Amino acid sequence: MAYVTLKGVTKIYDGDVLAVEEANFEIPDESFTVLVGPSGCGKSTILRMIAGLEQITEGDIYIDDERINDIPPKDRDIAMVFQNYALYPHMTVYKNMAFGLKLRKYPKAEIDQRVTAAAEILSISHLLNRKPKHLSGGERQRVAVGRAIVRHPKVFLFDEPLSNLDAKLRVQMRMEISRLHDRLDATMVYVTHDQVEAMTMGDQIVVLNEGTIQQIADPGTLYHKPANQFVGGFIGTPPMNFIETQIVNNGGTPALRFENFKVALNGHLQSALNTLSGDSVVLGIRPEDIHVGENGTSNSKFQFASCAENSVETLVELVEPLGNHALLYLRTENHNFVAQSDLADLPQHNAPLTVNFNMDKAHLFHPETGESLTV
Ligand SMILES: Nc1ncnc2c1ncn2[C@@H]1O[C@H](COP(=O)(O)OP(=O)(O)OP(=O)(O)O)[C@@H](O)[C@H]1O
Ligand SMILES: [Mg+2]
Repeated sequence: MAYVTLKGVTKIYDGDVLAVEEANFEIPDESFTVLVGPSGCGKSTILRMIAGLEQITEGDIYIDDERINDIPPKDRDIAMVFQNYALYPHMTVYKNMAFGLKLRKYPKAEIDQRVTAAAEILSISHLLNRKPKHLSGGERQRVAVGRAIVRHPKVFLFDEPLSNLDAKLRVQMRMEISRLHDRLDATMVYVTHDQVEAMTMGDQIVVLNEGTIQQIADPGTLYHKPANQFVGGFIGTPPMNFIETQIVNNGGTPALRFENFKVALNGHLQSALNTLSGDSVVLGIRPEDIHVGENGTSNSKFQFASCAENSVETLVELVEPLGNHALLYLRTENHNFVAQSDLADLPQHNAPLTVNFNMDKAHLFHPETGESLTV
């Protein structure tokens, strides 16, 4: 298939909307690369520049070794699937899928063979004579994907293709698109604002915010080693908790303080502080790394043998039971955070609860730049 390279790609709309700034990355051959980020961060713009539907303001895009900036969309050997499917309502499913090939003057037998094969892959062979208005949302989405498959493109581009489907169908189509990727060994670029979709589908994930790339990594690295506070807060539900702390001297070694609580640091975190000049730092801790402590109303599963000072006394504001675990919304005087508990015996609303931070899993971020000090 093909790999795609973006070098210093910038897009400025109408003179002053900076939609994408200096994007540099490679989409490896046969990878499933996901572009993820909040609404307006520039995901669709990047995809549309790769497809040729949007002019590139600065920089270059290559497919394999060929610079494609000036190649018209129809000659780029790319197929794009849109959120709204964009099917022709007056044509049958067969004709919708055949249309692109017909425009390119493929022989009838070849068209027939490709449409039949694609319909089989997508389990829509029985729908070929129907028109789009007689299809469900999921079936329409499959036809839209089929229209891309028949082209045998070098690269598939998907722009939020599942966002019009209900939650259950979305999970199913998510699996189908991943399976399709395995089966076709194709290079796929997939845009979504849903971090769960990104984490479950992508082997390479590009996290974007306000037009700039925040981090490019596999799902595990993004989760465990977020490059900055934005990625830590965007990837994972509920998001990572952030607490602004003061660096204090704790008998010769640095520790962190917020309100009346003192948090001891292990060696790894202590050395991360060396790069800081000020005396404040942002502590990042995921909900599952906050454990209900020994003084809580629940039995403790986890205890810090020697770090009693990592205990934080909180008040339970809300308990959300989710079956196999619960989310505890906790409050101290000036801070709110979320802890995840899998204990059967859950604390009560408004009860005091002591929790411990598992500092082996904690992250530290620069208070001004938000850059991680720990990766
Ligand atoms: N044709 C346009 N003219 C001017 N500004 C535009 C145009 N298209 C997009 N923008 C702006 O560029 C920025 C990026 O838009 P883009 O559509 O790439 O975002 P996105 O990440 O795909 O968002 P969403 O998740 O909402 O689809 C936004 O600020 C948007 O308002
Ligand atoms: Mg978009």
